[in-house]
Amino acid sequence: MVVVMRSGASDTDVDKVVKAIDELGGDAFVSRGKHQTIIGLVGDLTQFTELPLHAFPGVEDVIRVSKPYKLVSVETHPRPSTVWVGDTPIGRDTVTLIAGPCAVETEDQTDAACRMAKEAGASILRGGAYKPRTSPYAFQGLGEAGLDILHGVSRDIGLPFVTEVVTPADVETVAAKADMLQVGARNMQNFQLLKEVGMAGKPVLLKRGLTATIDEWIMAAEYIAHTGNLQVVLCERGIRTYEPMTRNTLDVSAVPVAQSLTHLPVVVDPSHSGGKRDLVLPLTRAAIAAGADGIIVDVHPRPELALCDGPQALVRDDILPLRESVTRFAGAMGREVA
Ligand code: E4P
Ligand code: PEP
Repeated sequence: MVVVMRSGASDTDVDKVVKAIDELGGDAFVSRGKHQTIIGLVGDLTQFTELPLHAFPGVEDVIRVSKPYKLVSVETHPRPSTVWVGDTPIGRDTVTLIAGPCAVETEDQTDAACRMAKEAGASILRGGAYKPRTSPYAFQGLGEAGLDILHGVSRDIGLPFVTEVVTPADVETVAAKADMLQVGARNMQNFQLLKEVGMAGKPVLLKRGLTATIDEWIMAAEYIAHTGNLQVVLCERGIRTYEPMTRNTLDVSAVPVAQSLTHLPVVVDPSHSGGKRDLVLPLTRAAIAAGADGIIVDVHPRPELALCDGPQALVRDDILPLRESVTRFAGAMGREVA
């Protein structure tokens, strides 16, 4: 069961609901969105049926949710949410381009890649300072030094940035500088990380696990929402299938399916899904046509020298075609580029 508070509801209104639930031996989880607060009720629901929650001050609606995910479900919040990263929206009216290097390698490379991203029309930058690698011998990222480089470049260019955090111990450090925290595919079900990231209070980009079902992915988002943080954006980034011609298989159907189940924005990563530069633009167009709320793309000034994922990085010559694809397909879908 979920209690949806009116947009102007006060903290006292929220506290009254929570106290009433507590007194009945239930648990109430408060999630504060930018415009609305939602309270999830857990416990024996029959306990709450006698409670006139509708009559409590500040309460807009009381909803029985049939899905296992409650706070992120469309049943709770039928209107799609918009998540703000700095001044940039990610939501159903726009297509937001997020771009930058896969990994922060040097200041010059990060600066060049982020300027390419801006030229392509990106309004959020991306870059990995902490890299989750298959091999312990592969480049693991520059860590805090990389975070500082990305932070400096982002402030210099004037665009916010998203960056991955791979371990709960680093959440505080990353959240102090980043505008949005990324939970990568490999950590989608790292529940402790999801909780810590949620509690940091920053917007979160939650990538779909390589072998995760859509339900599992949405349950992972519920973990973040459960901490009180509703600023979650889902990212479809390709899944493992039997097909070896692409790095992963972009599950384009996940976009409308996830949007039909949750109020959260859904973006697509055509770089990590296809794994090949030539696939990035076709997959970008497919994703926008399927209704994606944004695209997150790797770019690199010299991909032949990249320390991570060079083959999928767009190069300088791809920048204008990327900009055109995003603008034209967003327009065809009746959306603006954010
Ligand atoms: C990049 O962003 C990931 O860290 C990368 O795709 C991991 O893959 P790999 O370590 O198997 O190269
Ligand atoms: C990334 O975006 O840098 C990344 C590691 O992607 P994924 O988690 O989707 O593999």
